[in-house]
Amino acid sequence: MLAYSGGLDTSVMIKWLQEKYNAEVITATVNVGQPEDLAEVEEKANNLGVLKHYSIDAKEEFATDYIFPAIKANALYEGKYPISTTLSRPLIVAKMAEIAEKEGATALAHGCTGKGNDQVRFDISIGALAPDLKIIAPVREWNMTRDEEIEYAKVHGIPVSTASKKYSIDQSIWGRSIECGVLEDASKEPPEDAFEWTTAPEKAPNTPEYVTIEFEAGVPVALNNEALAPLSLIEKLNKTAGKHGVGRIDHIEDRMVGIKSREIYECPAATVVIDAHKDLEKMVMTRHEVLFKQQIDAQWTFLAYAGLWLDPLREDLEAFINKSQENVNGKVRVKLYKGGLHIVGRSSPMSLYDQNLVNYNIKTSFNQAYSEGFIQLWGLQTRMHNILKRKAKEQKTKSGA
Ligand code: ARG
Repeated sequence: MLAYSGGLDTSVMIKWLQEKYNAEVITATVNVGQPEDLAEVEEKANNLGVLKHYSIDAKEEFATDYIFPAIKANALYEGKYPISTTLSRPLIVAKMAEIAEKEGATALAHGCTGKGNDQVRFDISIGALAPDLKIIAPVREWNMTRDEEIEYAKVHGIPVSTASKKYSIDQSIWGRSIECGVLEDASKEPPEDAFEWTTAPEKAPNTPEYVTIEFEAGVPVALNNEALAPLSLIEKLNKTAGKHGVGRIDHIEDRMVGIKSREIYECPAATVVIDAHKDLEKMVMTRHEVLFKQQIDAQWTFLAYAGLWLDPLREDLEAFINKSQENVNGKVRVKLYKGGLHIVGRSSPMSLYDQNLVNYNIKTSFNQAYSEGFIQLWGLQTRMHNILKRKAKEQKTKSGA
């Protein structure tokens, strides 16, 4: 079984597995929002002499079972990256493992390199879901340079696209990862041609656009009062936010293998939805819930990033997260303008925000006289410490004199 994308690496892999392992190769392409045409990919696989090819459209499942939990967990790795590549890996492996079992495959091969995170996610998930399968990661074994691969492809009649690719792209409906080439110089601004989903902020429309996102139990259910299924909602918001240049990410990221990498992403919908979701949580949750949940969210995100989607801790954390979302209902109004994302309004039937409480001119049940006593107790230890500190200093100056 080979997880096949239709690109150069995995195409070369088909031939390489046939030659080196004398293997009969079955390929499968799991679509989570890649740009490649599934029918073309299938034709390409068949032309390379595979035994069988599977095309699986998993976009709906990806949205509902992987992206929605990530929204509830406000998943941003190292505070920035909506783990758009990450999330698809365990789903791809689950689909591959299913087919492998049905087909009686003996090994599962994937196109990950030995330097990235994806190998960690693939290998651990395969080990968890299909423990009897041998794992083959040809790129870790074959030691071919890009030029050698192209040469190998030519010799074996594998079509090589003439447009020499400037970047290495990975795409799902949750975002686009752009790597390699000039982007590797972390000191330089990414050139405009790296981006496809987002307009350059300076070229974005001159009038702002407002989007209202409605949440129910922590997940988005409607855009501008139109109820939408998870996948259509994400696709629609990607377009709208992308048009206004929202969702470009450029940061330094810690990979699992220790390498620091400069990563460029375009994640318009993810950026908007997570920001809106966080804002709504702060309106409906107690401060104790908000602060505690930040730690749970970070742990959930780290597990997913680190290839441990199938560790039971993820579901343990989700038991907390899901319970915490019961009251996360309401609407958030977002203003999109020239690359900027601004939350400009929010409302909820479960709001703990009370406009009367903050107003100085309205009489409410809030008794200001109580505040004085509260402050006495709240600052008790802080006052004691500073009094002791001053005494100790005075004594020191005395004895020193
Ligand atoms: N650094 C990101 C991650 O670990 C993106 C990786 C992109 N993967 C790729 N095969 N191009 O999730």
